Amino acid sequence: MTDAPLAPLDTSISIQQLDEDPYPIYRRLRAESPVLRVQSVGRTLLTRAEDTKYVKDNPGLFSSDDPNTPMQRAFLAQTLMRKDGDAHKCERDAMAPAFNPRVIQTEWVPKYREIAEAYLDRLPRNEPVDLFSLLAAPYAARGLAVLLGTEEASDAEMIRWSQVLIDGAGNFGWRPEPFEKTDIANAEMDALFDRISARHRAEPNNSALSVMLNADRPIPKSQIYANIKIAIGGGINEPRDALCTILYGLLTNPDQLEQVRANADWSKAFEEGVRWVAPIQASSRLVTEDTEIRGCRIPKGDTVMTIQASANRDEDLYDNGEAFVVYRDKNPHQAFGNGPHFCQGTHVARRAVGVVMLPLLFERFPDIRLVAPEKVLWRGFGFRGPTSLPVILS
Ligand code: HEM
Repeated sequence: MTDAPLAPLDTSISIQQLDEDPYPIYRRLRAESPVLRVQSVGRTLLTRAEDTKYVKDNPGLFSSDDPNTPMQRAFLAQTLMRKDGDAHKCERDAMAPAFNPRVIQTEWVPKYREIAEAYLDRLPRNEPVDLFSLLAAPYAARGLAVLLGTEEASDAEMIRWSQVLIDGAGNFGWRPEPFEKTDIANAEMDALFDRISARHRAEPNNSALSVMLNADRPIPKSQIYANIKIAIGGGINEPRDALCTILYGLLTNPDQLEQVRANADWSKAFEEGVRWVAPIQASSRLVTEDTEIRGCRIPKGDTVMTIQASANRDEDLYDNGEAFVVYRDKNPHQAFGNGPHFCQGTHVARRAVGVVMLPLLFERFPDIRLVAPEKVLWRGFGFRGPTSLPVILS
């Protein structure tokens, strides 16, 4: 037991403030209280890059297996995101063949390109069109359905399941309605997975469902289903929000857009977009032993929250981190996390958005104008991005 004092307790920051505009708060916390117990959140917030990385890189001390989160209730299972050590590695490895770089390059990238072409074909010219709902969300959903092997699900189903699972996993107030919706979605997904398993067994392929079902020593069916669901929950909002964020950044900085276009630096723009507004802003870890961070005692059983949104603007690493600047000297962002739970979809997301969609979109529509940049609404404490992106395409 250390005799260091507990981290200061804040009683003024509300979840509503964090949902609306957390960045000025994080800037203040990085300077004044980088380790802070925030009463409204019920967790200790860590806002400096060094600390968020330290926590995620030390899973022995900071466990992902936090029974106090509603995730298990929402998924009716313990997914790989909430496991540690060998139990986590075994389930992550089971899905890994679907995320193999060669498979991504030879199978998923051409599929994403096909989907991007088809979905861009549907967009009207010279009238306001919301790229969030008409392009970013369905593009992410269809690509993910192919990668996971759930092509039989419609875009609308994939999007609904994803949102319902996210709402359920974030239902810290334990209200009944979000769980009623996750129960329905779980039953629908289980029925679909049961139905399509025969196809994957008869025609093995590189989709995540197929590689898990056909493995020499498959993990239990309940875990195969749970981890396909975690990929549905975690694989739509983030590429959707990343795409909308990057587009907003480029369209409100025309000089940068011009340079990116001239140099085909779309991947650089992607990295800056996810640094600037991290699609997953925060993650929780359960403290397994009494410890200290920056001279503050963090007791066993406490839950710390790594705020990668804040780490990505840390003054120790970035000049002018609050601004969207594609051509920065360095960009060691943490948008995809760190340590053993580092995002398994990183390379897919980079290619789907940075390599495929961005160049195709600007090639197809050389002139894209935001309808009213000042009216674009940003929301989210756990997940964040623009809530819509009306543009005129020509
Ligand atoms: C820009 C897009 C994306 C961002 C910013 C992102 C971000 C993240 C982050 C921060 C984590 C770690 C959470 C933690 O440490 O607790 C994570 C985990 C994960 N992500 Fe992503 N993600 C993106 C896209 C995707 C996609 C497209 C997929 C699926 C195809 C995916 C699948 C996963 C999975 C399965 C995990 C859990 C890994 C584990 O626990 O071992 N992600 N993601």
